Amino acid sequence: MCGITGCIVREGDVANILYNSLKRLEYRGYDSAGISTIYDNKLIVKKDVGKIDEIHSKLNFLDMRGNLGIAHTRWATHGAPSKVNAHPHLDCEEKIAVVHNGVLENFLELRQELEARKHIFRSKTDTEVIAHLIEEYLKIGKNLSEAVLESVRKLRGSFAIAVIYTGEPDKIVVARNESPLVIGLAKDMKLIASDVAALIEYTKEVIFLQNRDLSIVTPEKVEIIQIDTGIKIDRKSMELNWTLDMATKSGFPHFLLKEIYEQPHTIREALRIQEKYLDLLTEFLDRGREIFLVASGTSHNACIVGSYMFSKLARLTTYPVIASEFIENYGSSIGIDTVIFALSQSGETADVLTALDYARYRAATIIGLTNVLGSTLTRIARAYILQNAGPEIGVAATKTFTSQLTVLALLALRLARKRGKISQNEMDEFQDELRRLPNLVENVIKLSEKPIAELSKEAARFSSIFFLGRGISYATALEARLKVMELSYIPCIAYPAGESKHGPISVIEEGYPVFFIAPNDNTRKHVIGNVMEMKARGAKIYCLGDEGDRELRELSDWYLGLPSVHELLSPIIYVIPFQLLAYYMTIEKGLDPDKPRNLAKSVTVL
Ligand code: F6R
Repeated sequence: MCGITGCIVREGDVANILYNSLKRLEYRGYDSAGISTIYDNKLIVKKDVGKIDEIHSKLNFLDMRGNLGIAHTRWATHGAPSKVNAHPHLDCEEKIAVVHNGVLENFLELRQELEARKHIFRSKTDTEVIAHLIEEYLKIGKNLSEAVLESVRKLRGSFAIAVIYTGEPDKIVVARNESPLVIGLAKDMKLIASDVAALIEYTKEVIFLQNRDLSIVTPEKVEIIQIDTGIKIDRKSMELNWTLDMATKSGFPHFLLKEIYEQPHTIREALRIQEKYLDLLTEFLDRGREIFLVASGTSHNACIVGSYMFSKLARLTTYPVIASEFIENYGSSIGIDTVIFALSQSGETADVLTALDYARYRAATIIGLTNVLGSTLTRIARAYILQNAGPEIGVAATKTFTSQLTVLALLALRLARKRGKISQNEMDEFQDELRRLPNLVENVIKLSEKPIAELSKEAARFSSIFFLGRGISYATALEARLKVMELSYIPCIAYPAGESKHGPISVIEEGYPVFFIAPNDNTRKHVIGNVMEMKARGAKIYCLGDEGDRELRELSDWYLGLPSVHELLSPIIYVIPFQLLAYYMTIEKGLDPDKPRNLAKSVTVL
């Protein structure tokens, strides 16, 4: 998730406005930044790696002249954080500048085509193809808006772009597909940005562009065209009464809730991960004599889900291990044939890095999955995948968990195909289910928010809570426990449902709250047995199960029906109501959902 912004005024310079707006977007990404303006029919570009203020103190953004410009703050996806990879990106003749937020799926094909036409690329980014594509269309006589229109029609993936061109220094052309874009309207001045935070200081009147809109923005007016039809359309502006704080959170009261809501988008982005990276990791996973999935906290819970996926889909045994236990438990037995697959949102967790250092010293192969390009994990892993979820500000992991699971599912499917372990039909069915995920998640957020908010009033008063699930839902139970416990400060227990009778059941007394995670899979009939055991001892049963499961609904004191989904993807669907529950419980208790006490986003101590 990067941030883009732009500004055009009738008279005067825009550098100051762009710099201010960019700083408002810094929370969307902060590994590099840049601004480009047009002055005297030439592009001025200043960009570098680092935080916006660090770059400003080196390059001074404020002395840039020009009445129009675009700017970008980056969260690297394609290409490491560096000066050449920082936006804006230019065409060969340095007349066109482009900033982009999103991920292009077909940039390699486009880049090859453009290189064959002698375009010179300077960066490793997917974005740069856009500048060269526009250049191609300008060469054959199109004007800027036509050239942008033709270019974006060729792009597959997500994008919000802003383009300026020295040949038409009276406009900014913007376009979007899946990545957000908003236009701010003021007299003789228009702003564009990834979100309202960047422009709320200058105007409260805005137009939210819709998917596949293109817009030609001048100081006086805004024209909007549908990318697919080329037809002009009218989009109504609206007056926002947001504060700056609300705008930074896109109108949500907290980052945690915003990030829960972002999951349909972040899962979609994870599904776009390039095949070559999936192939590379699949190769390593297939080659290992033994494979350990090493991580901490929520990422460890993702590893447990992954171990079920790898085993059931690809018939590959993997061992999920808590990073801080790895050396003591397995350190002495690993060696050159061992593969360590490390999962870490931040890529900086000390427990994970210490385990990896040790494993490297024993000549094991390290591969990784992380959300942060340039993190230590990306530097020490032989190969890694970036989850493309954008910065997560809430301390509790939400969107990065479901995007980790999405990547693990993609890997398990690849591995299954490579190892020839499942039928074509099974693979196709799984692939189809993966494609449905973003919409399913969107529905689940919608259908569960109200009943969960209601339930949280009661749940916030519990003194302790049990979470039970069988099979892959055991991992969901662990993650539900972690979210609810770390945010509400209520002690919670999670167990495989089948194991509960071997001890934990003695905790149960009249009215004790037990949450069951019970999708309609192979484990369901045994889960019903566990529900009966708990009920018989007076537990109050809260159950999340299939929307069509009448039997479970009747057995439960409280029931939330969720859409059917492939059993291996059920944790992605079933964890959502628990994220919401944890959030609403903090609200009930008057706690800060974004900053639970005693915790840090990245734990860099052992
Ligand atoms: C829980 C949470 C933590 C992290 C853990 C590992 O909501 O956020 O448990 O999952 O500290 O962090 P990463 O994934 O950055 O290694």
